Amino acid sequence: MNRVDREASPFDIEDYLRSQKEVVDTYLDRLLPPAASYPQIINEAIRYSVFAGGKRIRPILALATGEALEGDFQKLIYLGCALEMLHTYSLIHDDLPAMDDDDYRRGHLTSHKKFGEAIAILAGDGLQTLAFQTLSSLPVSGDSALVQLQVINRIARAVGVNRGMIAGQVVDITTQGRAFSREQLEYIHSSKTGALIQASVNCAVLLSSASEDVRRHLSAFGSSVGLAFQIVDDILDEESSFEELGKTSGKDRANRKATYPAMFGMQTSRKVTEELVEHAMHEIAFLGARGEVLRELTKFISIRRF
Ligand code: IPE
Ligand code: IPE
Ligand code: MG
Ligand code: MG
Ligand code: MG
Repeated sequence: MNRVDREASPFDIEDYLRSQKEVVDTYLDRLLPPAASYPQIINEAIRYSVFAGGKRIRPILALATGEALEGDFQKLIYLGCALEMLHTYSLIHDDLPAMDDDDYRRGHLTSHKKFGEAIAILAGDGLQTLAFQTLSSLPVSGDSALVQLQVINRIARAVGVNRGMIAGQVVDITTQGRAFSREQLEYIHSSKTGALIQASVNCAVLLSSASEDVRRHLSAFGSSVGLAFQIVDDILDEESSFEELGKTSGKDRANRKATYPAMFGMQTSRKVTEELVEHAMHEIAFLGARGEVLRELTKFISIRRF
């Protein structure tokens, strides 16, 4: 019931994304505290940012990875919701005046514009704790409890201060307006965005049963897709519009951010993206027909307009 019936008809990535987003949103709605629960303002703010929009790429990647390996849907969807909570927290904090100082996100006013800075900070913090609460509530027993611990550990690292999201954000902020090296740039992108995307894939693999070889291939796949995702985000900041993105474009250049277009120009940035996609596709070639959805998602990530 929760999976899309894709028999016979040709695969349509837009339909697929739309229906998977609906599945993810249904579970997010169940897992987040009701807007009316006390103190209402924090739950309102959390729901405001989570349901403002968003592509749900991380949960969709986790579901698609798990589906390719015949993983258990109930566990994968909890993982997916936790990933989206962490991602939304990172966006709320990324937009704060002390960081990127953005007024719009997902086509709506940013959390601090709507609720004030204190509540925006707390909404981000709240989503982070809810994510770990969700992961630790996975319906498991026995051996699976060990896997659950591994998932929690991997996700904590992916958003943490050692090559995780926070580390990437720190170097993004501290290099702003300064000269930066190619190594720093790759570190920023792989850490602030790549790590959580790679963890989306790796944790879905952990929750399915996979050999060491399969794990290695999918981890390399996740790493390439994660880096490509942020390079495309940089490219879109240069060439897309507010209407398409739901956030203000052109700000990276104005703020002298460390981006791929700033270091290499648009053409090379596109070429690097293509190479990463090629590498990612190569890593999942062994999946054959089972890898179709992951291949379509990878293509979408590189050619997306939003
Ligand atoms: C934007 O992420 C910020 C990055 C980490 C690149 P997304 O492009 O996934 O944003 P939403 O979730 O669709 O709004
Ligand atoms: C943000 O990167 C990465 C996060 C961890 C939130 P950006 O600052 O480029 O993301 P946008 O462009 O504001 O969505
Ligand atoms: Mg930022
Ligand atoms: Mg930003
Ligand atoms: Mg950006």
